[in-house]
Amino acid sequence: MIIAIDGPAAAGKGTLARRLAEKFNFAYLDTGALYRAVGLTLLKQGIDPTDTKAAEAASTDLDLGLLDDSDLRAEATGGAASKVAAMPAVRANLLDFQKNFAKRPPEGKAGAVLDGRDIGTVVCPDADLKLFVTASPEVRAERRRLEMEGRGQRADFDAILADVRARDERDMGRKDAPLKPAEDALLLDTSNLDIDAVFLRAVALVQERL
Ligand code: C5P
Repeated sequence: MIIAIDGPAAAGKGTLARRLAEKFNFAYLDTGALYRAVGLTLLKQGIDPTDTKAAEAASTDLDLGLLDDSDLRAEATGGAASKVAAMPAVRANLLDFQKNFAKRPPEGKAGAVLDGRDIGTVVCPDADLKLFVTASPEVRAERRRLEMEGRGQRADFDAILADVRARDERDMGRKDAPLKPAEDALLLDTSNLDIDAVFLRAVALVQERL
């Protein structure tokens, strides 16, 4: 069974995907982390993330060690990720890894949950369940702010909101695999729902398909 979860930054996809994977003993792939690793490769080398050649090279020979780097979740890394993610060659280089993960999850796992921006539309168009998780930009920015504060980082709401909006625009506006719900995706607006409510709703949807 394959579950595809898409949606904009900080909508709660990751938490939902992780919890579903744990409940149903499915493997979980955070596909945003792959784009972040490409972005972080460039930032660490002092290369501008709009440098197509360098991004292409970083995605061809992806350093998976960066998935554990403490800078992977930084706001700057997310921004760099959305720039390299607009490059068709980068997306093509990361596609096989994601498709293979979905088709052949690790031993002992009964299925796979993938979250990202194009899982239901491009990576797993035949997924058994497609969820499109959204929330207003303000709610998402506030969640991000609380998350950063929780990590002891300084967080300015207006700066985060501007960042969230810029990332939405880039992710939805790009030509290749833009962020949009698949035609058969179910929409989950989490603006007024806490994570437990979202989780229970998603669990019911998975159980209907088991
Ligand atoms: O989900 P996360 O915020 O970690 O993703 C970082 C960036 O990677 C996104 O803003 C998006 O541009 C890109 N991404 C993508 N396709 C995916 C996952 C992430 O383009 N499947």
